[in-house]
Amino acid sequence: MGNVSSASQMAMAKSRPSRQINIVLRPNEQASAPRTESAAATTELAEAAILTQSQHSAFGEVRQEFDRLIGLQHIKDIAFELYAVIQMNQRRQEAGLLSPSHVYHMLFKGNPGTGKTSVARIMAKMFQKLGILSKGHLLEVERADLVGEYIGHSAQKTRDLIKKAMGGVLFIDEAYSLARGGEKDFGKECIDCLVKAMEDHKNQFVLILAGYCDEMDWFMQTNSGLPSRFPIQIDFPDYQVDQLIQIAESISKEQDYVLMPQALEQLKEMIITEKIQSSHIFSNARYVRNVMEKAMRNQAVRLLQQYPVKSPSKQELMTLRIDDLMVERK
Ligand SMILES: Nc1ncnc2c1ncn2[C@@H]1O[C@H](COP(=O)(O)OP(=O)(O)O)[C@@H](O)[C@H]1O
Ligand SMILES: [Mg+2]
Repeated sequence: MGNVSSASQMAMAKSRPSRQINIVLRPNEQASAPRTESAAATTELAEAAILTQSQHSAFGEVRQEFDRLIGLQHIKDIAFELYAVIQMNQRRQEAGLLSPSHVYHMLFKGNPGTGKTSVARIMAKMFQKLGILSKGHLLEVERADLVGEYIGHSAQKTRDLIKKAMGGVLFIDEAYSLARGGEKDFGKECIDCLVKAMEDHKNQFVLILAGYCDEMDWFMQTNSGLPSRFPIQIDFPDYQVDQLIQIAESISKEQDYVLMPQALEQLKEMIITEKIQSSHIFSNARYVRNVMEKAMRNQAVRLLQQYPVKSPSKQELMTLRIDDLMVERK
């Protein structure tokens, strides 16, 4: 990054929403370089511009995936911070400076359907694109996958999964359940094994522990060594009703469907009722996705009944009506 503009660009980047991550720093720098600069230096700058542009476009793809998620601005900002730090560490290395080794293990705290798995998947891809992880896959597991039935079994199962996660992200859902049984539980064996792997293979995989907020806070307290190992802790708040409606619209758009205004109203009612009736286990965007998938099936049945022989119009094939949203079909 150019010395002249680096401070202001950094400051701008900090306050800038993540959708504007695509700042092209190097070409600007090249344009503003003094004409008297030597040919060698100009070539170096041109090469750097190419490098930055290719990394930039790689990140651009990831940014688009983040942008497809409704809301979650604070998480998009964190992703941008991670991107910035990884980029600058490379620059620091090139400049012969120390580049502090960063720990990317994370804790995701939130209710079901708040986007934890979706974000973890994009983060895995981001780390791969930026050269932090070699493969960038996501291995999602839960207690039953890790805990075994006899002494040593859990450690073995955990080690096997860590091996599969190498080069990617190991995502443990409802991770607090590993500590539930206390000292004598086999879950303890998993935790010890995970902690050891975090030391032994610290640059080879990223561990993300996810779960309900209170339970994860409790989990962190059960082992004094844990909190410091997870420097990045991210809250996934419940979605607002209007965000859930936007999510429903984005799901329909993704699949070439359109929700009629009355259907949208109906959906809003359903979300509000569901939120009140199942306040503890309301499954946020997952609830919306399930309702939408059911609506698509209902629409297919309705159209098949309506058009047993000839094909419905394109418009009709796309339209989701209020009665398609009724969960129980008569
Ligand atoms: N912000 C969002 N924008 C669009 N879709 C979302 C968003 N958050 C979650 N979803 C969708 O909701 C479903 C559940 O999300 P997921 O990431 O599995 O939640 P969690 O892991 O927190 O239970 C997925 O189908 C996902 O695509
Ligand atoms: Mg999940």
